[in-house]
Amino acid sequence: MQNSRIKSFLNRIISASYLHSAVLLFQILVGNLKNFTYVIGDEAAKVGIIIDPSWDLDKVMSTVRRNKLDIKYIFNTHSHWDHTIGNKEIANRTGAKIIAHESAPTLKDISARDNDVIEVGSLKFKVFHTPGHCLDSICLMIDEILFTGDTLFVGDCGRTDLPGCSPAQLYDSFTEKILKLDDHTRIYAGHDYGARLRSTLGYEKKHNRSLQPQSKQEFIEIMSR
Ligand SMILES: [Fe+2]
Repeated sequence: MQNSRIKSFLNRIISASYLHSAVLLFQILVGNLKNFTYVIGDEAAKVGIIIDPSWDLDKVMSTVRRNKLDIKYIFNTHSHWDHTIGNKEIANRTGAKIIAHESAPTLKDISARDNDVIEVGSLKFKVFHTPGHCLDSICLMIDEILFTGDTLFVGDCGRTDLPGCSPAQLYDSFTEKILKLDDHTRIYAGHDYGARLRSTLGYEKKHNRSLQPQSKQEFIEIMSR
């Protein structure tokens, strides 16, 4: 799949014309915690997925209906409530199956493992297990786009001081998985916490404190401050 096939839309321009794109990507700002829900669709096959449904489900579903997408799967980037509370309602409204990492304690229909590839129409989503912010954190990659959940934000990373968090695991997820991806990889995070709505891995390598060259011990000390 060529990069040019993907066309993305911010929620505020959701009603704009986008009929010539083969792969649709909607980044929708929802709720009071600046969460992002994503709708990704294969325009030709009229199938798609939703990542992290939480609040403002009518807004999400209006995007689905407007694009006539048959939602096959709900992906959860991790099990925290602000990424999963819309699961049941969206599943009821669409018939979609819920996919989460095999270690996630939340209700799911399909358990995902590291390096799994899940196909929806012509779309192929690769699973990266990236524990650290949460033991069951995953990042999802389609073409050059990486959905990072709370593992990596624009300019920062997810907190590691909650139960189940591990700064050492997060360091390993960065060094062994994310930092090995191409600099052109586009970063779409789980929250609108940065100076920009999305970024690239190359930009984050230069400007994100979490991705600076440092030892694991240095990273753990920074995360504990
Ligand atoms: Fe989280």
